[in-house]
Amino acid sequence: MLKHDVLIIGGGLAGLRAAIEAAKNNVDVAIVSKIHPVRSHSGAAQGGINAALANNENSKDDTPEKHAYDTTKGSDFLADQDAVELMTSLAPETIFETDHWGCPYSRTANGKIAQRPFGGAGYPRTCYAADKTGLYLLHTLWEQTVKHHIKVYEEWMVVDLIVQDKVCYGVMAIELRTNQLQPIAAKAVIFATGGAGRVYGRTSNALTSTGFGMALPYIAGVPLKDMEFIQFHPTAIIGKHILMTEGCRGEGGYLVNNKGERFMKNYVSEKIMELAPRDIVARSIQTEINEGRGIGGQQFVHLDIRHLGEQKIMERLPGIRDICMDFLGVDPIKEPIPILPAQHYTMGGVAANKNCETEVEGFYAAGECACVSVHGANRLGGNSLLETIVFGKIAGKYAGEYVKGIDLNTEHSSYKNFTNKMNGFMNRLYESTGNEDPYRIKKDLNDCLDENVGIFRTEEKMKKAVETVKQLKERYRKIRKVKKTSSFNQDVVWILELEGNLLAAETIAAGALARKESRGSHSRTDYAKRNDAEWMKHTLAYYTKEGPRLEYSPVAVTKFQPEERKY
Ligand code: FUM
Repeated sequence: MLKHDVLIIGGGLAGLRAAIEAAKNNVDVAIVSKIHPVRSHSGAAQGGINAALANNENSKDDTPEKHAYDTTKGSDFLADQDAVELMTSLAPETIFETDHWGCPYSRTANGKIAQRPFGGAGYPRTCYAADKTGLYLLHTLWEQTVKHHIKVYEEWMVVDLIVQDKVCYGVMAIELRTNQLQPIAAKAVIFATGGAGRVYGRTSNALTSTGFGMALPYIAGVPLKDMEFIQFHPTAIIGKHILMTEGCRGEGGYLVNNKGERFMKNYVSEKIMELAPRDIVARSIQTEINEGRGIGGQQFVHLDIRHLGEQKIMERLPGIRDICMDFLGVDPIKEPIPILPAQHYTMGGVAANKNCETEVEGFYAAGECACVSVHGANRLGGNSLLETIVFGKIAGKYAGEYVKGIDLNTEHSSYKNFTNKMNGFMNRLYESTGNEDPYRIKKDLNDCLDENVGIFRTEEKMKKAVETVKQLKERYRKIRKVKKTSSFNQDVVWILELEGNLLAAETIAAGALARKESRGSHSRTDYAKRNDAEWMKHTLAYYTKEGPRLEYSPVAVTKFQPEERKY
C-alpha cells in the first residue's frame, strides 16, 4: 500500500507551502494533485499579495495592526480577529521569504518591493509582480518543492477521505492515467484543494475549482463554515468571466456607466471611489445595471484604463491587455473594457482553527478550501494569496509535528472498509440504469446558483435554490451509466466532482437562506441591515443525508469592536 507521513491534497500555493514546511520536520511528505501543480488555480491570481511593508511613499505609517483592522472591517466584522492578527503579522516575512526564493516582485525606483493600492485598504499595501503575481509565486514555490525532493502524485484524484471514529487514516485516490483506485495511507492529511467557484456558471474560477475538496471532509463529518459568503469580483470580462485584476483600479482605472459617469461616487466617498471593498463595488455595478445605466442593452459597465497610458499598462498590466485582446478583441490602451461582476472566491470552507486543525484528528485544511476564518463575510483583494502561503506553512508545521508521535498501521480496518465502499460506489456508477445526464445537472446547478444566490438575495429565490439543489441531488442518484475508458476517464472525474458541486451548493443555499441579515457579500433585499445582536456568528453546516444541519459558533473579537462599515 502507498503510504506517507504527511499527505497533502492540492498542488496550489497552500499545498506547496504546506509540503515545504512539513518536509522540514524530516518526515515523508507527498502531494496529490489532479493536475500538474503549476497549472493550479493559484496561478490565475493577478493583482498581488498584501503585507504592511510601508514601501510605497503613501504607506509610510502602515503596520500589520492596520492591515488587521482593514481586513476585519472588510470582513464586516465576521472574521476571527485572532486569526486575522496572526496572518497580518506574518505577512511581511512571507513576502521576504518568497522574495529570497526568487519571486520576481515588481520594484520601486529605489529597488524595494513595489506596492499598489487595493480595495478596502487604508494604504497601498499590495505587493505585486506585474499582473501575474499568483503565477510567479506558484513557480517560486514549485522550485522549492523540487528542491526538497517532495514526491508528487500528479494527475491523481482523491475521491474519499479515510476517516473512522473521528481519526483520519489517509485517502482513496484514482491514478487517472491507469484508472486505478487505491488507498494512500497517511498519518496526517492536509487538504489544500481550493474553492468551489464552479458551482456558479458565471465564475472567474478554473474548471478544477469544483468544491469537491470541501465536500469530502463534509461527508466525513467535518463541518463547512460560513459557506453563504460568496465573493463576486466586480470586474470580469463579459461572456468569459475572466478576471480583470483589482490592480486595474489600484493603478487608477475608472468604472463608468452609460452616461460616461464614474458612478462609484454615488455609493462611497470621493476619496475611495473604485477602491471600495469588492462586495460594495460589485453591488454598485449591479445596481447601475438594474437601474438602467448599464451599457450594451444594460448588459455591462466599462472599466476604463486608457488614461493610464500605454507605458504603464504594458509595464504593470500586460496580462490584462493580452486577455482583452485575445478574448474580446479589445485593446484596453485604446478602448474601455466591458465588464461585469463574476463569482470569484469562496469565503467559507472546511472549518479549521488557526493551526489549520479540524474536528477530525490528523486532518488539516488550508487555503481557499478552508475557513480559518480570516475573511469573514467579505475578503479584501490581496489577502487570498497571503492566506494560502501563511496558512499553508502553518498547516505543514502542525501536521509535520503531529505525525512524529503516530504509528502508521496499514493493516488498520479502515483501508479495507473504504476500499470496499469506494469500489461498490464505482461499480454502481458503471452499472447505473438511470438516464439523467450529469452535464445537464451541472448546467442546471450553475443556472440555479447564478439566478438565486447571487449578489442580491431574497427569501423567495434562496428557498428556490434550496429546493432546486435538493431535486438535483435526487436526479444525481439516477444518472446514466458512467462511460468506461481505461485511461484519463474524464466522465468519472466530472461525475464524481458533480456530487461535490451539489453538496457545496446545498451548504451555500441553506446557510444563505437561514441568515436573516445583510453582511459583507451576503446582501438580502428583505433584511437589508447587518444585525450583530442576532447574527454576529459563524454558520457551521454538518452533513446529513437529508441536507445540511446548521449550527452556529461565536466570532473571535480581540481589538476591533464592530462598527458601522463606512467607506
Ligand atoms: O483582482 C485581483 O487581482 C484578485 C486578487 C484577489 O482575489 O486577491
